[in-house]
Amino acid sequence: MEVIIFKDQQTASKKISAFIKAKLQKKKGLVLGMATGKTPLNLYEELIKKYEKGMMDFKDVSTFNLDEYYGLNSEDKNSYCYYMRENLLKKINIDQENCHIPNANSQDVPAHCLQYEQKIREKGGIDIQILGIGSEGHIGFNEPASSLVSRTRMKTLTQQTIKDNSIYFDDKKSVPIHVITMGLGTIMEAKEILLMAFGDSKSEAILNTVEGPLTSMVPASILQMHPKATIVLDEKAAKQLKRREYYQWVYNNRPSWQIGI
Ligand code: GLP
Repeated sequence: MEVIIFKDQQTASKKISAFIKAKLQKKKGLVLGMATGKTPLNLYEELIKKYEKGMMDFKDVSTFNLDEYYGLNSEDKNSYCYYMRENLLKKINIDQENCHIPNANSQDVPAHCLQYEQKIREKGGIDIQILGIGSEGHIGFNEPASSLVSRTRMKTLTQQTIKDNSIYFDDKKSVPIHVITMGLGTIMEAKEILLMAFGDSKSEAILNTVEGPLTSMVPASILQMHPKATIVLDEKAAKQLKRREYYQWVYNNRPSWQIGI
C-alpha cells in the first residue's frame, strides 16, 4: 500500500488525472472503475479539461461504476447514472455502450449482478479502480461486516451512510435504503486501485484503513491485501496517520524508474 499526501484535493486530482492520461497512452482500451460522491468530482473535471485540450481520447475506454441506489431511475438527479452522465460521460468522447452502471431497476437482482461481473471479465478486468471512502470505511457501498470476498450484490445501507449521503438529496428522507454494489472481492480484482480521501471527516476512516487491523468492520482495510493500492490524501484526511512522515519519505525517495502518481 502506498500512501501519498498532497496539500489539497486540487493538487491530488491533477496528479491522478496525469497518471490516468499516461496509462491511456499505453493502453487505449483502458478499463476504468468509477466512483461517485464529491471526492472524485475534481478528478473528473481534470479529465474533461485534458480531453478538451486534445490530450486524452476516450473512444476505446470502458467504465464500470461501483454502485447504484436501488429503485432510482436514470433520470433521477440522485442516481449515480445521472451523476456520471452530468459530471463526466456526456462531456468526453466515450462510447456510451462502454459505460456500465449497475441497473437500479433490475427485477432479478442476483442475475443482474452475475451479468455485471461477467461484463467486467469480458473486458479483461478493471485496469484502474477509483475509490472514495465512506466515514465508516466503506468502499463502493460495502458497509461494515461486508464479506471480504463479496461479489456484486444488493446491500442495505447503514443509518450513518444514509445520514452522510442525505446532504445530496432535496428530500432528506428519500435516500434509498438498498443499493447494488460491486463486492470487496470484485474490487480487489482490479489490477490497480486508487483510493482518494479529502477532508477532516475522512481522517478516522483513513487511519483505520491504513494503520488499523484488517477487518470487515472497516471494509477499506481489505486494500492492505492488494498488491497495487495507492491511497491519495490531502493533509486533512492524513492528519491522524502515525507514520505520515515515513509515507512522505517514501514518496520523496521513489526510484526514478517507478511510474506513479
Ligand atoms: C458513497 C459512494 C462511495 C463514496 C462515498 C463517499 O457512499 N457509494 O463510492 O466513496 O459515498 O462520498 P463522498 O466522496 O461524497 O464523501
